[in-house]
Formats: sequence, structure tokens, C-alpha cells
Amino acid sequence: MAKWLNAKIVKRTDWNDHLFSLSFECADFPDFKAGQFTKVGIEQNGQIISRPYSLVNPPLANHLEIIAVPVQEGLLSTQLHQLNHGDNIKVMAPATGFLTLDEVPASNNLWLLATGTGVGPFISILADPLVWQKYQHITLVYGVRYEHDLAYLPLINNCMKDKGNQFNFVPVVSRENSPGGLRGRIPELLASGVIQAQVKQSLNAQDSQVMLCGNPDMIQSSVNVLTAMGLRKHLRRSPGNISMERYW
Ligand SMILES: Cc1cc2nc3c(=O)[nH]c(=O)nc-3n(C[C@H](O)[C@H](O)[C@H](O)COP(=O)(O)OP(=O)(O)OC[C@H]3O[C@@H](n4cnc5c(N)ncnc54)[C@H](O)[C@@H]3O)c2cc1C
Ligand SMILES: NC(=O)c1ccc[n+]([C@@H]2O[C@H](COP(=O)([O-])OP(=O)(O)OC[C@H]3O[C@@H](n4cnc5c(N)ncnc54)[C@H](OP(=O)(O)O)[C@@H]3O)[C@@H](O)[C@H]2O)c1
Repeated sequence: MAKWLNAKIVKRTDWNDHLFSLSFECADFPDFKAGQFTKVGIEQNGQIISRPYSLVNPPLANHLEIIAVPVQEGLLSTQLHQLNHGDNIKVMAPATGFLTLDEVPASNNLWLLATGTGVGPFISILADPLVWQKYQHITLVYGVRYEHDLAYLPLINNCMKDKGNQFNFVPVVSRENSPGGLRGRIPELLASGVIQAQVKQSLNAQDSQVMLCGNPDMIQSSVNVLTAMGLRKHLRRSPGNISMERYW
């Protein structure tokens, strides 16, 4: 049965003036799978205002972690942005969600496509040893407005060092030129083959699985592009190549 647990913030990371991560300790939070989300809330006047957030930490970490952004006129995200070390929050147990490796068939290539805070579940998945056993090659494509919106670069860079030829990272920046990144939006850069050419990996129905997370318009446009390339949505009862989680 789902229940609220008390949690305390132990660390806050500001990636820039709007994008931030919160780490919190939450005694007795049950085991979860990399890629799952839970509800995080703030208690106010006897009520809990809550929203779903993906867990960024790997399952065996000491603390839970989320990444968020204060969305304009957003009720909860603007309040989370004010929180600091020592503040109390509520966390729903257990975590839930199907953007997890046990739901995605094995294949040669795993493509992880994220925009904005949608990178969170993929950071958790990249820290899970299972992903490196199940897929021969993994590519993280991470779309943001500006270069300073790219979070978790130290972790991603470590992955590149540790996993060598098994991992590629493609930052995609839409609103400025960025050295080392592609300029534009993910669906267009997939349709033109620019991303596939950069990492020299195939993206097709025969040997690829694709996981998408973040902005629902990016997800829809990318699914359209992937469908035109012969890939189709993965369902338990009808295996395919595309698994996704929309944030709104
Ligand atoms: C399964 C799931 C997992 C999620 N995980 C995360 C997460 O890890 N990190 C995170 O920041 N958000 C995540 N979200 C979105 C999150 O639950 C909230 O909707 C968001 O923080 C805004 O909450 P709010 O109360 O401030 O505004 P709301 O009133 O809930 O949202 C207002 C509007 O803000 C926009 N919006 C919502 N979320 C985002 C976002 N992340 N980036 C840009 N625009 C957005 C949408 O247009 C939405 O209609 C997730 C949503 C779902 C369904
Ligand atoms: N990023 C900032 O500088 C900033 C600053 C303050 C507050 N915020 C708030 O933070 C919230 C989230 O911003 P965010 O930048 O994390 O998320 P976002 O708006 O979802 O943008 C992330 C990336 O997704 C791309 N994208 C948007 N729609 C797409 C589509 N249909 N197809 C393909 N790609 C698409 C964006 O490209 P485009 O650039 O082309 O849209 C951008 O590269 C917003 O509510 C914003 O008000 C952001």
C-alpha cells in the first residue's frame, strides 16, 4: 500500500539559477528499480501538495535524489526551488513506473533520449550495472535550451571514461551554439541521421531499443520520426522498440 514517508533534505545542487537537484534521506524507503518515479510533496495547512518526480539516484544509494526546475506559475516546483539543507518533505513509498530495464527488451543498441529534467531516470539507469550487461552499446541524447542546462555532466563524463566504446553522449542544444554539442532539436536531428552518424551507431527496428523521457512534444515528434523509420511502441503484449515517459 502506498504511504507517505518523512524525508529531510541533505544536499541541494544548483546547476544554474533555475535547474536544481535535491538529495534527501528517507528512512525505510523500499527498494525500487532504476528509472522509476515517486511522489514528492510539501505539507501545508494539513494538506500535502505533491507531484511525481523521477529518482535520479541508483537503487542502492544512501539518499534519494530528484532534479527539477521551477516552471512558470507551477504550484509545487517553485516551492521545491526554495528548499534547503535540513528542510522536511514528504515522499510517497513505494516508487512506481515502467521506464525500467526489465520492461525493455534486450538489443544491441539502447538509445536514451531526454529533454530537460527528463534526463533524471537515465542517470539512474546508467548507474545500474544491468544496463551494461544487457546492451552492447548505449547512447544518451540530451536536449536542452542552453548549454548551462546540461546537468550531471561529471557523472556522464565518468561514464564515458569508464565505459569507453560502449557509451556515447550527444548533447543537443537548441538556443545557442555549443562546442561539442549539436545545435537543434532531437526529432529533427534523428530524422536527418545527424545523431546516428555522429556516434556511428544504427537506429533501426532490428537491433535498437529507444527510451524517451521529458517534454511530451519532443516525445511525440520523436515517436513520429522513429515510426517512420520502422520502429514501433513497445507493449508487454506486443513487443516493439519504443518505451517512454511523458512529464506533462
Ligand atoms: C511520471 C512523471 C515523472 C516526473 N518527473 C519529473 C522530474 O523528475 N523532474 C521534474 O522537474 N518534473 C517531473 N515531472 C513533472 C512534475 O511532476 C511537475 O509537473 C513539475 O515539477 C511542475 O509542477 P508544478 O506543481 O510546479 O506545476 P504543474 O501545475 O504541475 O505544471 C505546470 C506546467 O508546467 C509544465 N511542466 C511540468 N513539468 C515540467 C518539467 N519538468 N519541465 C518543463 N516544464 C514542465 C507543464 O506545461 C505543466 O502543465 C514528472 C511528471 C510525471 C508525470
Ligand atoms: N531553460 C531555461 O533557461 C529556463 C529558465 C528559467 C525557467 N525555465 C523554466 O523551466 C521550464 C522547463 O524548461 P526546460 O528548458 O527544462 O524544458 P523544455 O522547455 O522542455 O526544453 C528542453 C528542450 O526540449 C526542446 N523541445 C521543446 N519542445 C520540443 C518539441 N516539440 N520537439 C523537440 N524538442 C522540443 C527545447 O527546444 P526549444 O528551445 O526549441 O524549445 C529544449 O531544447 C519552463 O517552464 C521554463 O519556463 C527555463
